[in-house]
Amino acid sequence: MIEEKIDVKITPTQESRINQVDWENLPFGKIFSDHMLEMNYINGKWSTPEIKPFSQLSLHPATSAIHYGQSVFEGMKAVRGEAGDVLLFRPEKNAQRFKESCERMCMATIEPDIFVQLVKQIVDVDRDWVPQKEGYSLYIRPFMFATDDYIGIKPSGTYKFLIFTCPVGHYYSKPVKVKIEEYYSRAVEGGVGRAKTSGNYAASLYPAKKAQEEGFDQLIWTDAKEHKYIEESGTMNVVFEIDGKLVTPSEESDTILKGITKRSVLEIAQSMGIEVEERKVTVEEVITAIKEGRLTDAFGAGTAATIAPIQTIGYRGELYEVPMEPRETSNKIKEYLVNLKTGKIKDPFGWIIKV
Ligand code: PLP
Ligand code: COI
Repeated sequence: MIEEKIDVKITPTQESRINQVDWENLPFGKIFSDHMLEMNYINGKWSTPEIKPFSQLSLHPATSAIHYGQSVFEGMKAVRGEAGDVLLFRPEKNAQRFKESCERMCMATIEPDIFVQLVKQIVDVDRDWVPQKEGYSLYIRPFMFATDDYIGIKPSGTYKFLIFTCPVGHYYSKPVKVKIEEYYSRAVEGGVGRAKTSGNYAASLYPAKKAQEEGFDQLIWTDAKEHKYIEESGTMNVVFEIDGKLVTPSEESDTILKGITKRSVLEIAQSMGIEVEERKVTVEEVITAIKEGRLTDAFGAGTAATIAPIQTIGYRGELYEVPMEPRETSNKIKEYLVNLKTGKIKDPFGWIIKV
């Protein structure tokens, strides 16, 4: 297939803010690069995308996304490669998931190859914003929301698609303490859990806040029907090492985000000869395995979170500690993944895309 080349109008900033950045101490998600990309869906088609100086948006008070939540987003990263080049990791996966999220939310869609081209273009324009410091990256936030100024309930006929980028440091700076949630639910079968849509995150805030008041960093969600099966965490998928195998909840139901980091972790693990099981995982088996010393590793996997070791699991008022040493499996996979993403090692999977 010949890739359709898309025209982008570029209006460069007159005043770059890049010299104001403290590159040694980047917080997550608070610093925004010089430009953003914008494209509008009107009368059944997308306008010419425009890359322009990062700026405020002006919205009608009846903008339907604000009222009824037709809003989806993605999260991806560009990193500085060994040779100073700028590298993306499996952007076509984000593009595909974005399309599926839009479809589920009854929104306009963008073809994955166009999405990837747009991401490459905005990253290229702000390539100087990709941090040099090891472990830091340029977080990319593509998103779309409904813009009809109408308060009747119906799918909007108009949409705004934007991409902005943020140079970022670490999302979690230390191993995480998670609580297994048995009352609140993130997603139900037949619902929108699989879509990366804003409301899923809004709904998670109150239960997460309650858990934070108890001293936890995050929740581990369980299934909404029985609270018996583990699903995922607030910002990442979860993986356990039990009896030497990597075990993770399967994505068969539509309640779990199809994480690109987790998928990559599993594929890398398999290539290293590590056994992987994607299936229903009960809370019971995880707790029993900890008690019996058969759970040797537990971690979250996500774009922002990368590979975040889980140190403590709270369940029914008890705290269960997962040994922090040796964590051989997650350390080995993490090192491989970091080296792959930064071009330090050869990419046998074809996952790395140069900008
Ligand atoms: N689950 C949730 C709820 C998330 O927000 C994220 C982050 O994007 C993930 C899982 C991990 O997905 P990915 O690895 O594609 O970033
Ligand atoms: C991501 O990892 O990209 C997310 O969407 C989660 C959020 C913590 C930034």
